Amino acid sequence: MFFLHGTEIEQLTKIKKAIFNNMPFDDLEIICKEVSISLNDKGFAYTYAACLLASEDKISDAKKMFAINGEDTFCKIMYDYLEETNSFDLADQVFKSADPYNIYTQTDFFKKHQGGALKYIRKFAQESAPPKSVSPVTILDIGVGNGMFITKIVNEIIPLYDIKNIRLIIIDQSEDMLRMAKEYCEENINITVEVISICCKIQEITKEQIEIIQNTKPIWFINTGLSIHYMPKEKKIPMLKQLKAFSPKLVLTEVNWNHDLPESNSPELF
Ligand SMILES: C[S@@+](CC[C@H](N)C(=O)[O-])C[C@H]1O[C@@H](n2cnc3c(N)ncnc32)[C@H](O)[C@@H]1O
Repeated sequence: MFFLHGTEIEQLTKIKKAIFNNMPFDDLEIICKEVSISLNDKGFAYTYAACLLASEDKISDAKKMFAINGEDTFCKIMYDYLEETNSFDLADQVFKSADPYNIYTQTDFFKKHQGGALKYIRKFAQESAPPKSVSPVTILDIGVGNGMFITKIVNEIIPLYDIKNIRLIIIDQSEDMLRMAKEYCEENINITVEVISICCKIQEITKEQIEIIQNTKPIWFINTGLSIHYMPKEKKIPMLKQLKAFSPKLVLTEVNWNHDLPESNSPELF
């Protein structure tokens, strides 16, 4: 980790503005060269520009920029990654297959995080009863992953209200995750469960998919665990407004780190 001082931030913001104003590559390279004079790490101006270009989906320019600082290991890895995937959509790539997350969910780190979160979700459920005389009770899960977490949640809270039937609407952008989650929930939830799977990025949910969800209302609560930090704030806010139309209750479990993609007009990097 390293920290930038005020002048460096000011200089780097010039690069950011140039990229958001669609400056041609050759002019941008000149700006990077000028900015690099004020930086402790001279190559960082190019790394910074390359990351922003990649996050703006300007993959070919990003590769050219990473190549300028190609001696740097990070830039080399990023160059190879873009060459191979031609994309910088982190969540798309990381969760394409369920296998890595299946391994992660076996770790002590995950189990510890999950145990802590469950304690609070149980408390929430105790204080917020499901809608009266509605069967099945419906829960919506955004970014369900492999289904292990929502299964634990459901099994933890159903005894509180002696629930006999549950309907789970599970959303994930990854088909493989969604397939795995449906199977896992059906096999491991302790009561009768109906699973409705919706494959989409939640910020790009279609009218038809919204209608499917609206038809299941009232929804007890929406759960989203470790899933919505992948999107920048300007997409997150309209997305949260959409969720509010589904249910007034949202259970959000997150970690205390941030790997949002950069927001427009923000000095943050990534
Ligand atoms: C770290 S996993 C979390 C899985 C599960 N919620 C848990 O707590 O164990 C993140 C999941 O969110 C999904 N995801 C990430 N961004 C998403 C988005 N914008 N819309 C829908 N799903 C998303 C990923 O595909 C992945 O399955």
